[in-house]
Amino acid sequence: MLTRNHDHAPLDAIETASRDEITALQTERMRRTLGHAYANSSFYRAQFDAAGVHPDDFRTLNDLSKFPFTVKQDLRDNYPFGMFAVPREEIARLHASSGTTGKPTVVAYTKNDIDMWAQCVARSIRAAGGRPGDIVHVAYGYGLFTGGLGAHYGAEKLGCTVVPVSGGMTERQIMLIEDFKPRVIMVTPSYMLSILDSYRKAGLDPRASSLKVGIFGAEPWTNAMRTEIEEAFDMDAVDIFGLSEVIGPGVAQECVETKDGLHIWEDHFYPEVIDPATGEVLPEGEEGELVFTSLTKEAFPIIRYRTRDLTRLLPGTARSMRRMEKVTGRSDDMIILRGVNVFPTQIEEQILKCAALAPHYEIVLSRQGRMDTMTVRCECKGDAEAGARDSAARELVHHVKSVIGVSTLVEIVETGSIARSEGKAKRVRDERPAR
Ligand code: DLL
Repeated sequence: MLTRNHDHAPLDAIETASRDEITALQTERMRRTLGHAYANSSFYRAQFDAAGVHPDDFRTLNDLSKFPFTVKQDLRDNYPFGMFAVPREEIARLHASSGTTGKPTVVAYTKNDIDMWAQCVARSIRAAGGRPGDIVHVAYGYGLFTGGLGAHYGAEKLGCTVVPVSGGMTERQIMLIEDFKPRVIMVTPSYMLSILDSYRKAGLDPRASSLKVGIFGAEPWTNAMRTEIEEAFDMDAVDIFGLSEVIGPGVAQECVETKDGLHIWEDHFYPEVIDPATGEVLPEGEEGELVFTSLTKEAFPIIRYRTRDLTRLLPGTARSMRRMEKVTGRSDDMIILRGVNVFPTQIEEQILKCAALAPHYEIVLSRQGRMDTMTVRCECKGDAEAGARDSAARELVHHVKSVIGVSTLVEIVETGSIARSEGKAKRVRDERPAR
């Protein structure tokens, strides 16, 4: 019988390898990747030549810092297929990120790349507490987004029964969860909250559902949100990280037994953390921008990709591979309010401290005269009286001021008026005119 999460399915040998073994493997794979990128991608050849470096300059992992960074604009400039390192006929799959404006950024996979990706996601599901034979409900979006198909192939690889629901049609999601009884759900944390809402609306007890493991990612979420979801569903909630440019979901995964940050599958993805201002590589433990180099990808080797995600590297615990701290935000999402840096996740933490507030929120930035103002729009749990709403609003103003150090306005809106997410939540609405 499967027990809740803590039985042990066998791990891949590399998950318990020594640091020396991991370093040796990474060094060998890095050498091959740099050679492959230089020989087969005109983009990388031009980049390396312009920086005056050659794959032969790489001897140890420390030499990686000589090589140039890759940024999202490089993908846009080489749209659609200009960065790839195999003939188009060898590409088995394309995915793309929807940019907010203009053309998407396109990524490519050979059959081997898809297989490697599925293995990483299978490893992630197992680390999360999933087991062969589990029913896995996949509510990440299917299509050009990597979430749905990435989760799907990984769950199949692990030997699970996959339910490819995709996002949306929340009432049907609930019907399928109630009828098929999945043990595992893979979905964005914000969409999980919409599912929770609908459970309650339907008069069903979420704690009585079959769900025991939630594998949540694709957007930042806090430990406070973890507690909220775990208590609501009586389940374990763990974090999965990834990005299309690197592969998709399954670059790093939190282990259910420790829930202490995400182990990076370092046999396939080599992490660095840099100072975003200078590009200098930071020592382990310091916070900065996460940078990845793929170690085994064929169609689209990615060299020193600047993710814009902020985190720090930590030593291994449940696995010997290093961890990254839960991503608190992207440099793009940082709000600068009257000189103070604020991330939406910091606001989320303060909202969840207020017992009367529901976990749905939106941050609106506006300008009155020369003054920028922030308004947190959120809802009370259930139908709170006017007095209770006022005191919840005052409580949130106080927490935000005392913990984050900024003054905010709080608007408690009618239940259901904050738009519910079906995928990645949009937390910030910036109404400030351009200066
Ligand atoms: O979001 C891949 C993914 C799908 C990951 C499903 C996990 C689950 P992109 O659409 O390319 O790919 O967006 C990548 O999303 O750079 C982060 O800013 C953010 N992100 C992804 N996972 C997490 C996470 C997918 N666990 C971008 N925590 C990344 C915080 C995350 N942010």
